[in-house]
Amino acid sequence: MTSTAPAATLTVEKVGGRIGAVVSGVRLGGDLPEPVVAAIRAAILEHKVVFFRGQHHLDADSHEAFGRLLGEPVAHPTVPSVDGKYAFGVDNDHGGRANQWHSDVTFVPAYPAFSILRAEVVPPYGGNTLWGNTAAAYAELPDALKLLADNLRAEHTNDYDYAEARPEARAGELEQHRKVFTSTKFRTDHPVVRVHPETGERTLVLGSFVKRLVGLRGPDSRAIIGVLQSHVERPENTVRWQWRSGDVAVWDNRATQHYGVDDSGDHARTLRRVTIDGDVPVGVDGRRSVLLEPTSVPEPTYGIASGASTDGKVAEEDISVPA
Ligand SMILES: [Fe+2]
Repeated sequence: MTSTAPAATLTVEKVGGRIGAVVSGVRLGGDLPEPVVAAIRAAILEHKVVFFRGQHHLDADSHEAFGRLLGEPVAHPTVPSVDGKYAFGVDNDHGGRANQWHSDVTFVPAYPAFSILRAEVVPPYGGNTLWGNTAAAYAELPDALKLLADNLRAEHTNDYDYAEARPEARAGELEQHRKVFTSTKFRTDHPVVRVHPETGERTLVLGSFVKRLVGLRGPDSRAIIGVLQSHVERPENTVRWQWRSGDVAVWDNRATQHYGVDDSGDHARTLRRVTIDGDVPVGVDGRRSVLLEPTSVPEPTYGIASGASTDGKVAEEDISVPA
């Protein structure tokens, strides 16, 4: 299905039935007119992840400038950027390959709303990225499981067992990545179901940063996480993207999880990510996410850290969700 967006030549073409669309007819940058920005934002919210081909002209600055049209760029809370500003390196030459299902930075309360990933160097084969629609995953649950999920909270952390998660990674690389990634240890209590602040949809907040479900025994916690997570990963709820250099993917990090497939061997794969600030999730019962550790989010060397702008501290009071 192709639809013509309100903004002149911009077109949106679905890739998958439940997630993913290609947006064409736009040259990304920081100078797009407001109607085009509104059309792009609407496409992201509807399709959860959108793809732009042939954006070879983008560099670190114009990538960031485009990001500013969607919100405030934020730094990763622990990993230094590759350009001294906001560009986060997604490279396969270290221990940090992202071959686990996750949403970005969910170990802080106000984790990013959007991520914008730009491909500079792509391998000759493999290295695809998959996204799962966490709103569709929730929507397809039978009522009994919706009710269960609505009432659960989960603890997310950046200090998980890396060796267990990535048994194929080289020990030295893994240790170095772990050291940087967990230089500050974060633990955050999130609702398992959040109410999306822009669409009102309910989405599952899970992925590889989840340590456990609050108040449950380990085996029960793992089993229930497995049941809910399986709906995010179900092929019908996912889309798979084969990167070309110059591609840009923009996803709603509040309504998706993603997975970088680690199957291109030693071939170089260099992508750059800019993340846009999010807000503190609110559960179905109106309870907000709460930072458990540390007591506040440390300042990065440049700009503001993801999760910090909404102070990330323990919620003084819960707010109620409009019906
Ligand atoms: Fe990621």
